[in-house]
Amino acid sequence: MLDRYVNLLESGEVVAFPTETVYGLGADAKNPDAIQKVFDIKGRPADNPLIVHISDPNQVKYFASEISDDAHKLMNAFWPGPLTLIFKKKPQVLDVITAGLDTVALRWPKHPLSQELLALSGPLVAPSANSSGKPSPTKAEHVKEDFGEDFPVVDAGETEIGLESTVLDISSEPYTIYRPGAVSSDAIKKIIGKDVRQDKDSSKNETAKSPGTKYSHYAPEAKVRWISSSGTTFVDDALYLLHSRPVPRKNSRVIHYEGDFNNMAHELYDRFRHADHQQLEYVFVEPFSKEQLQNPIVQALQNRISKAVS
Ligand code: TXA
Ligand code: MG
Repeated sequence: MLDRYVNLLESGEVVAFPTETVYGLGADAKNPDAIQKVFDIKGRPADNPLIVHISDPNQVKYFASEISDDAHKLMNAFWPGPLTLIFKKKPQVLDVITAGLDTVALRWPKHPLSQELLALSGPLVAPSANSSGKPSPTKAEHVKEDFGEDFPVVDAGETEIGLESTVLDISSEPYTIYRPGAVSSDAIKKIIGKDVRQDKDSSKNETAKSPGTKYSHYAPEAKVRWISSSGTTFVDDALYLLHSRPVPRKNSRVIHYEGDFNNMAHELYDRFRHADHQQLEYVFVEPFSKEQLQNPIVQALQNRISKAVS
């Protein structure tokens, strides 16, 4: 079933495929021309490096110049899964992948179809399979929306998590989380017994260590706003995403997650895209409490929604 896609990848083409987080736009990690196509198709700035996806932890040594004990512990604990690890790179890793940095990002995704594809194709670079600036795709339809009806996509329905992987830099200490995801800083601390930093200000920093974080991201055309604590006046051309407060009138524009934050994460980007299909002016989101922000998936939601708001 995957033959057609493997052939395309081998001949230097780009193919979208599902992971447990979002759909990725895959290209052969050994083929600089194929990788350049990924940047061209997405309209991605050349200084924003790509994650190399692998199907076996033994492949780390082809990309990383050193694999520490902490790296082994993290790989054992969280791979395959939604954790991207940044290593010091080997000299032969292509500059087009790393945007000239001396580090490389690696991830072993969990989705069975991504594993099958990677086992057949070998390592693939894969950013999220959206046009730069659009919300990441959580359905094959989203990919086709951005890149055309005929674009090759391995279709596996909706992705499970719906938000991108945690990005953790272990190339130097203290370790830094550039992007929060389903693997939390607490879970990471527990495994390695060390503190990890949250990189809060990279979006304001031109020489950001993780270049992707300085670009506006995840935002629909509709303006995304937090609902103020003083109460809600419901307007017509808006979508409301609530999770805890009582709802005056539930309807197709007032979604209530009833505390199910995994479902909220799973649906968020689809809701953003849907708001644009309906040409809504606003998406209003209920803010999260301090207590709710203990939950790693709520931290990831807070991060993505804040970026969409700013
Ligand atoms: O869940 C995911 O990670 C998805 C799926 C497809 O695996 N991929 C994804 O890729 O979200 P992308 O390119 O949309 O986001 C990768 C992030 C970017 O912010 C990029 O700047 C950062 O990882 N990154 C990649 N390589 C890096 C490096 N060597 N140093 C610092 N940041 C890096
Ligand atoms: Mg992306």
